[in-house]
Amino acid sequence: MPAEDDFTVTPYAVEGDVDYDRLLEQFGADALTDDQRAAFPDPVHPLVRREVFYAGRDVDAFLDAANAGETHSVVTGRGPSGPMHVGHVFPFYFAKYLQDRTGALVYVPVSDDEKYLLKDESVGAISDHARENLLDILAVGFDPERTRIVVDTADADVVYPLAVTFAKDVTQATVNATYGDPVNVGLSFYPAVQAAHLLLPQLVEGRHPTLVPVAVDQDPHVRVCRDVAAKRRYDVDKPGALLSKFLPSLDGPGKMSSSADAPGILLSDDREAVFEKVRTRAYSGGRSSVEAHRRRGGNPDVDVSYLLLYYFFEESDERVERLAREYREGSLLSGELKEIAAETVADFLEAHQERRASLGPLEAELPKFRLAEAERRNARRRAGFPDDSLAQQ
Ligand code: TRP
Repeated sequence: MPAEDDFTVTPYAVEGDVDYDRLLEQFGADALTDDQRAAFPDPVHPLVRREVFYAGRDVDAFLDAANAGETHSVVTGRGPSGPMHVGHVFPFYFAKYLQDRTGALVYVPVSDDEKYLLKDESVGAISDHARENLLDILAVGFDPERTRIVVDTADADVVYPLAVTFAKDVTQATVNATYGDPVNVGLSFYPAVQAAHLLLPQLVEGRHPTLVPVAVDQDPHVRVCRDVAAKRRYDVDKPGALLSKFLPSLDGPGKMSSSADAPGILLSDDREAVFEKVRTRAYSGGRSSVEAHRRRGGNPDVDVSYLLLYYFFEESDERVERLAREYREGSLLSGELKEIAAETVADFLEAHQERRASLGPLEAELPKFRLAEAERRNARRRAGFPDDSLAQQ
């Protein structure tokens, strides 16, 4: 098998051992530079500092606007395919960090259409996932003044007109080449819907830099959208992207979790469940016996307990570095590292769950985050729909 074919990354399939640098060449994105990392608001988020977000497109325009106090937005969405696990939530906490530090507008599109088209589940089941996922997203604590949530099928009065106009600039050949042949016509169209998500902040607020922090498998959507934006039929900048590596599944790095596998750590897991999963399932980079481990040390780079802490859950650099050192030296055992990781993840989830439990019902919470009538009108108008269109009657 030729070297460049031993992994596949598209929004619908991640297979093989992903070479993150080679992927950037394939996709045409750029590794983040030290200067770019340093331009993130202080203290620079661990996800950026530790290069989990490791690459991007047009990151500078976003950072310049953020640091100059000019309008800037972040789009981070959710495909409601089931309950959310810990890997799904970190872009939302990252968006919240930007909003808190620089006042970023945050747009959260929920692609219930996409997941209905992709999964063998009824619209009702997908809709139930969307409701549950929305409560988890609201638990992150976004500012309702600066955050807008759209659900594709529920906000069709704005999503659909935008998607239709963008769809005209996306050929079937582009979709096939970018995603592989779609399994139905709905998924052929969906890239135009996601382009609507990524341009929505500019269509609502006027032209400004947008950043899309996503796992690198979503970059094709950003590329398609940037091509649409580049056609200049609309007064928008190309959205920028901040691309992350994948949080490893419990089975180990390189093993992508898919819906077919047993779920990883869910946002709804209690302490006991977290400890049980980490103790029994988290892939260990330790040696097969305590003596061998003490003598020769373990490998934190493949150890899922360590990687959970490193990727997201342990904020202190000093602490992650010490854990890596002690693990390599053999003084920290695999079982001990697992307990530390489980404890840290469980603390995080407990705080998240408390925030979620303190929310009112979705019917009471969501309206604060929906687009106002004037915002819907602005978006449609900027996409070319006249104010006296039938949507207004
Ligand atoms: N397609 C994404 C997924 O499958 C969800 C999503 C929809 C999204 N719109 C988005 C992610 C916009 C980031 C930005 O998970």
